[in-house]
Amino acid sequence: MVLPLILCVVLSTAHCAVQDYGAYDPVRDAFLPGSFPDSFIWSTSTSAYQIEGAWNVDSKGESIWDRFSHTPGKVDCGDTGDVACDSYNKYREDVQLMKAMGLKYYRFSLSWTRILPDGTVAGGVNQDGVDYYNNVINELIANDITPMVTLYHWDLPQALQDRYGGWVNETMVQLYHDYVSFAFKSFGDRVKLWLTFNDSKIVCNNGYLTGQHAPGIQDRSQLSSYLCGHNILKAHAKAWHTYNTTFRASQDGKVGITVSLDWAEPRDPDLPADVAAADYYMQVSNSQFAHPIYVNGDYPPDFKILVQKLKQALPDKNVPDFSDEEKASIRGSSDFFGLNHYTSCIVGHRDTPAGKGPLDNINITRSPEWRRAATDWLYAVPWGMRRVLKYIKETFGDPEVYITENGWSDGDVTPPVMEDTDRICYYMTYIDEVLKAIMYDKVKVRAYTAWSIMDNMEWETGYTQRFGMHCHLHGPEPASGTQAVFKVLQGHHRQQRLP
Ligand SMILES: *[C@@H]1O[C@H](CO)[C@@H](O)[C@H](O)[C@H]1NC(C)=O
Ligand SMILES: *[C@@H]1O[C@H](CO)[C@@H](O)[C@H](O)[C@H]1NC(C)=O
Ligand SMILES: *[C@@H]1O[C@H](CO)[C@@H](O)[C@H](O)[C@H]1NC(C)=O
Ligand SMILES: *[C@@H]1O[C@H](CO)[C@@H](O)[C@H](O)[C@H]1NC(C)=O
Repeated sequence: MVLPLILCVVLSTAHCAVQDYGAYDPVRDAFLPGSFPDSFIWSTSTSAYQIEGAWNVDSKGESIWDRFSHTPGKVDCGDTGDVACDSYNKYREDVQLMKAMGLKYYRFSLSWTRILPDGTVAGGVNQDGVDYYNNVINELIANDITPMVTLYHWDLPQALQDRYGGWVNETMVQLYHDYVSFAFKSFGDRVKLWLTFNDSKIVCNNGYLTGQHAPGIQDRSQLSSYLCGHNILKAHAKAWHTYNTTFRASQDGKVGITVSLDWAEPRDPDLPADVAAADYYMQVSNSQFAHPIYVNGDYPPDFKILVQKLKQALPDKNVPDFSDEEKASIRGSSDFFGLNHYTSCIVGHRDTPAGKGPLDNINITRSPEWRRAATDWLYAVPWGMRRVLKYIKETFGDPEVYITENGWSDGDVTPPVMEDTDRICYYMTYIDEVLKAIMYDKVKVRAYTAWSIMDNMEWETGYTQRFGMHCHLHGPEPASGTQAVFKVLQGHHRQQRLP
């Protein structure tokens, strides 16, 4: 699809005052008219737990997010994904929303426990779950929409959490391998684009360090979150190699991983200490997963220093490094770079550390001029998109980049925001920076995926944050509409989800 960027120009100058989005710089922020390559992939995204509902229907097993959201106090307003957008029953309507937007791709995730209720193949395959995903995939293809499937979207089988402690346990590498092999075998005749993990940093930090996410473990020593990341990297690499050796010849697809990178702008680009601080942030906060996979099989230098500190702090514990064999397996284990990008920050040096945490020795701020979404970490900084894409090109070996998430939230107000100007402006300005990255910086961006096709269960904040291009009210209220991202550019407003 070629974006009607001429319309964008009109919109951007007339309605979308980019100037309102903070510290407008006429050179940096000037709108670039143009069009994307015909082969460019336009997509929207969801994940199983956030949309499917039917949490215990047709023999689906319990996931850690089911358990977590059912535990009082864990999720805002006591919200759960028990019903969510009811996509287990309404997937055909979801597909019609995409079709109405002219979309040709859709990124969604598989619920592990819908397919393998106790997480293991030995424990039995749930044919109803397999049928459900076959139906979704077939419905998409019948409507000329290509599926892009994420294998792990945070909803680990509760049984594996109970039995092994989840991702801290190396046994997970083999169990994940068995699950994804089953998925490749069952769906790989039709699914040609796979993502192994979505934003593993959040899985490990929020799940095993702060406990804000399922399984809610608070291990402030940082051992659990480190082990989690270590095992996920090994699991990812094993899955990629299995695809490469066993499935690629017959299925001819691509397997990648999605990492989340925000952009760290040095507070004073002329001050070496600030440039170093921003670089430190990019390594420690952003490259734990990307550096091993795309550079050399191992963590970035500043992250390795943190691992040394962890070993010193925990002399009685096993804090593993990657063996040479593991490094060789991890290095290059991806067919493309999956990027979630939402926002940026300003990073400066700090003379006295604020504490003992990995980021306490730098000063992370946001410009007061940046517009903030309903979500507290989400500020609109369109030019950060271009910089992060250029950074990926320069740091990670000029890979093909699939943007797998980018989006904007508003709050849960009644009636819901239908005018949607902020979301329109966010998408328009960010997408234009993607175009600049392609045209000026020659970054090999192949796909842009908006988060999300419809409002959904936003993890620990429940239904209080609306990221959807279609508005979907939870519960008995009528499903109301939202905005279709690419029609946004033609000035449409948020629309009704089909009743
Ligand atoms: C993937 O991670 C992002 C954070 O980077 C999160 O907002 C999103 O909900 C996750 N997506 C899925 C599909 O799990
Ligand atoms: C991993 O699981 C095995 C089997 O239940 C258990 O013996 C072992 O202690 C677990 N390891 C960790 C690090 O939790
Ligand atoms: C991927 O599989 C092909 C064909 O089997 C093989 O030649 C190649 O070495 C594999 N790549 C890696 C990195 O193992
Ligand atoms: C952090 O940076 C901000 C400006 O970006 C500055 O106002 C503040 O004083 C700095 N704080 C410290 C502790 O250096």
